[in-house]
Amino acid sequence: MMAAQGKKIWMDGRLVDFADAKVHVLNHTLHYGVGVFEGIRAYPTPDGAGIFRLPEHVARLLTSARIYHLPVPYDAETIARAIVETQAANEVLPSYIRPIVYRGEPSLGVKNSTGKVSLAIAAIPAKKYLGEGSEKGVRAKISPYRKPRSDAMPSYAKACGNYLASYLAGIDAQQDGYDEAILLDANGYLAEGTGENLFLVRDGVLYTPGLESDILLGITRQSVATIATDLGYTVVPKLLSVNELLTADEAFFTGTYAELAPIRAVGDHRIGAAVPGPVTRAVMTVFAKAVRGEEPRYAQWLTHVPGLAAAPRTPRTARGRAN
Ligand SMILES: Cc1ncc(COP(=O)(O)O)c(C=O)c1O
Repeated sequence: MMAAQGKKIWMDGRLVDFADAKVHVLNHTLHYGVGVFEGIRAYPTPDGAGIFRLPEHVARLLTSARIYHLPVPYDAETIARAIVETQAANEVLPSYIRPIVYRGEPSLGVKNSTGKVSLAIAAIPAKKYLGEGSEKGVRAKISPYRKPRSDAMPSYAKACGNYLASYLAGIDAQQDGYDEAILLDANGYLAEGTGENLFLVRDGVLYTPGLESDILLGITRQSVATIATDLGYTVVPKLLSVNELLTADEAFFTGTYAELAPIRAVGDHRIGAAVPGPVTRAVMTVFAKAVRGEEPRYAQWLTHVPGLAAAPRTPRTARGRAN
């Protein structure tokens, strides 16, 4: 579980103390879920804090806001600068950065598309989301809760209200003793985890559900697909059945908070050899180096934050074991 704590929160251009970051209880976003947000990680790198894929997260935030008629009063460059400023002010690493766009003023009319739109940004200490399972593999449950169809709630917008199904699925899986839930789409195809995308590996090929299964188009998913392709694997987005998951050689989740988490079992079914498989491990190794600034090929994925201490450079001879 992620305990929210930090020093400062950026609110509409001002860094306020963590305890003072408040909005009115009758605000529109609280009542109707009309808000959009991002989850971003910053890692220690040899060149100081590195924010992973910052422009892509800012672009998705603005897309999500547009879909939900939330005119954000800041452009992409200003938002990126504010995120860097918030990261620097909180001096935490690794960190989890949460920008949220919301209507914070009192309003009880559902069709409020004119109230003031605000942006707040937090940066709190990041932990491993799926705990030990992140390395050893997690046990997942096929959820009885389905992803809402995108003609009801567009899945490609990272919107507050979209997380109601994730919440129900997550609590249900937790109560049954599982680490995570896998939600199916309305047609019974695999969609995603509560906050992660899903990959399967079969005969050395990676498969992942596509947008037609009402998923969020994950930035980690896209990064992992690039890494896998660069490693020489084929990556195929397609409709995937539960059967294809249960008989896969390997499976794993991807997401900003979960990073890469191998799936060792789904319900009572062991996946492959029930250990992180060779393809999962190969991709995980490169991903872990990329986010820490140790893969020159992906150097452009990191935005460095001035003023924070650099991570010690990994000695060349130990690189293979460093992650
Ligand atoms: C529902 C859902 N799917 C997938 C993801 C993974 O997306 P990303 O890799 O951009 O964090 C997330 C996390 O943001 C999510 O909440």
